[in-house]
Amino acid sequence: MARIQWNENFSVNEKFIDQQNQKMLDIINDYYESIQKGTALSVFESIIERIIEYSNTLHSYEEELMKSIGFTDLQQHKQAHTDLKNRLQEELEKYRRDKINYPYHDLSSLMKEWLVGHIVMLDRKIKEYL
Ligand SMILES: [Fe+2]
Repeated sequence: MARIQWNENFSVNEKFIDQQNQKMLDIINDYYESIQKGTALSVFESIIERIIEYSNTLHSYEEELMKSIGFTDLQQHKQAHTDLKNRLQEELEKYRRDKINYPYHDLSSLMKEWLVGHIVMLDRKIKEYL
C-alpha cells in the first residue's frame, strides 16, 4: 500500500470533517510506514488508540451535523460508524491476545477500506446537503 495523498475525493466541504479526515489519513500513512520499517509492534497500540479517538470525535460531530441538516440516511450512516468502532475494538483485542503474531496489515486494510468505502462513498453524501 503506497502513501495515500489527500485529494478532493475525500472532501466533504466541511472544515472540521475535512481536517479530521486529513489527520486520520496521516495516522494511517504513518502506520503503513511503520509496517514497512518493521516498527509496527511498538507503535500499534498508540496508533489504534489515536484512530479510535479521532473516529469517536469525528463521528459524534458528523452525526450531530447530519441530524441538523435533515440527512435522510442518518441511521444507516450511524450504523456504519458503530461497525467501524466494533471492528477497531476487535483488532485491538486480537493484538492484545497475541502481539507477536498479530497480522499488521489487517488494520491498514480495514482503514483503507474505510477511506474508500466510507469517506469517499458515504461521507461525501453529506456534501449534497451543505
Ligand atoms: Fe461518516
